[in-house]
Amino acid sequence: MKASLRSLAVLLGLTVVLAGCERPPMDTVQRGYRGNGMEQVANPRLVALQIPKHQAPDPLPPASSEGPKASQIYQNVQVLGNLSAGEFVRTMTAITNWVAPEQGCVYCHNPANFADDSMYTKVVARRMLQMTQHVNADWKPHVGATGVTCFTCHRGQPVPAEIWSAQEAKGRPDSMLGNRFGQNEPSLKVGYSSLPVDPFSTYLLGGEKGSNEIRVASKAALPDRSNPMGTKDAEHTYGLMMHFSGALGVNCTYCHNTRAMGEWANNPPTRNTAWYGIRMLRDLNSTYLDPLQPVYPLGDAPKANCATCHQGAYKPLYGVSMLAEHPELAAPGGSATKVASAAKEKAKK
Ligand code: HEC
Ligand code: HEC
Ligand code: HEC
Ligand code: HEC
Repeated sequence: MKASLRSLAVLLGLTVVLAGCERPPMDTVQRGYRGNGMEQVANPRLVALQIPKHQAPDPLPPASSEGPKASQIYQNVQVLGNLSAGEFVRTMTAITNWVAPEQGCVYCHNPANFADDSMYTKVVARRMLQMTQHVNADWKPHVGATGVTCFTCHRGQPVPAEIWSAQEAKGRPDSMLGNRFGQNEPSLKVGYSSLPVDPFSTYLLGGEKGSNEIRVASKAALPDRSNPMGTKDAEHTYGLMMHFSGALGVNCTYCHNTRAMGEWANNPPTRNTAWYGIRMLRDLNSTYLDPLQPVYPLGDAPKANCATCHQGAYKPLYGVSMLAEHPELAAPGGSATKVASAAKEKAKK
């Protein structure tokens, strides 16, 4: 009796432990030279469940470019003035479908006067138009010709599913149990690890210099002055790397040869693309999203990270481009100086 109770307990224990594992078989794809373990492991059943989430919606029929410009017909058009009236209404219909399909035009507009800017959502949406054009025109080293539209991040919701804010990331306050230093809190953002839950304020918002360098591997065997980074930097770096893996649905070896994580020459080209992604996000967060703070009715301005666009896929929408159907979002672009200085810095590596 006792023995069977014990084996029942063992069985129950095993079930609990194994419930955390995924059922084989897995798909394994080799992406590097033989023997260096550069493989991508994926669970085909979980991937299949994800596919519907990454489908682009059908495009709207094209509109005629003939006739007077939107800037001539309407009173308060600051970004899309070069479009014809037909194209302008088509764009308004598309952004309604992408961002506020349930709420409709009134999510951004005062129905009594469409030129009125009193709703914060309209002011934010105008900034979003400029940001989207800037990404597509100037951040080609990351988004290529594929580019992004509002749908890439919003997917039919006013607030994208994946955002972060410095406020929320501060975590639980200090208690009798001590200061958590922003870590040891289960968060999907860092793969439920005990790593810092906000590597974003450090690495995806500020500039290039000082403590926000994403670099922890020493070039020398013993501690020396060539590597000023400490344990805290290492923890934040690994927190960010867990985010990268989760955001793209990939293993570390998608971007690294684990023989030498930090060496550029031995790492796959995806790591280069990711390097530009980091600089792009610093630009978007600090130039477009964070400065919107006074416009929002309450609190911090929510910001973007890799998951905002990728949402678990190695390329957003598996690389399908919606931009060809919306050339108005591909041009005219903003300031390309940050991209140029990033490219210069990358060339030095
Ligand atoms: C997600 C926010 C958003 C939604 C939803 C939206 N609009 Fe707009 N709308 C804007 C923005 C931003 C502008 C200003 C564009 C610019 O400055 O280039 C604008 C401008 C306009 C104007 C020009 C008004 C003027 O005189 O200056 C019209 C007309 C318009 N929208 C119609 C619509 C219609 C019709 C719908 C629904 C099918 C709609 N909009 C849905 C954000 C939105
Ligand atoms: C790179 C990702 C990204 C793209 C592309 C993008 N957005 Fe956003 N959007 C965000 C983030 C992040 C926020 C902040 C979330 C919040 O407001 O809580 C936001 C907020 C908004 C809001 C305010 C929602 C609210 O109620 O607070 C509107 C409206 C909006 N976006 C419209 C647009 C439109 C229109 C486009 C395309 C021209 C667009 N967005 C493209 C990331 C994006
Ligand atoms: C999507 C690509 C990508 C993925 C996935 C990724 N990394 Fe990274 N990793 C980078 C990039 C890019 C840098 C360099 C960042 C910079 O220089 O600004 C980096 C830097 C690092 C560094 C610092 C190297 C040094 O020079 O000190 C370590 C360590 C690291 N990654 C480990 C990991 C681990 C562990 C994982 C898996 C949990 C991982 N990475 C997943 C792109 C990636
Ligand atoms: C504004 C949206 C956006 C954001 C934010 C973003 N990406 Fe991307 N990323 C894209 C698009 C679009 C592509 C596809 C480009 C193409 O088709 O050439 C891409 C491609 C990539 C690729 C190449 C994949 C391959 O198989 O070639 C990597 C790696 C990558 N992104 C990593 C990142 C990382 C890491 C971050 C965060 C630091 C990030 N991305 C943030 C839009 C984004």
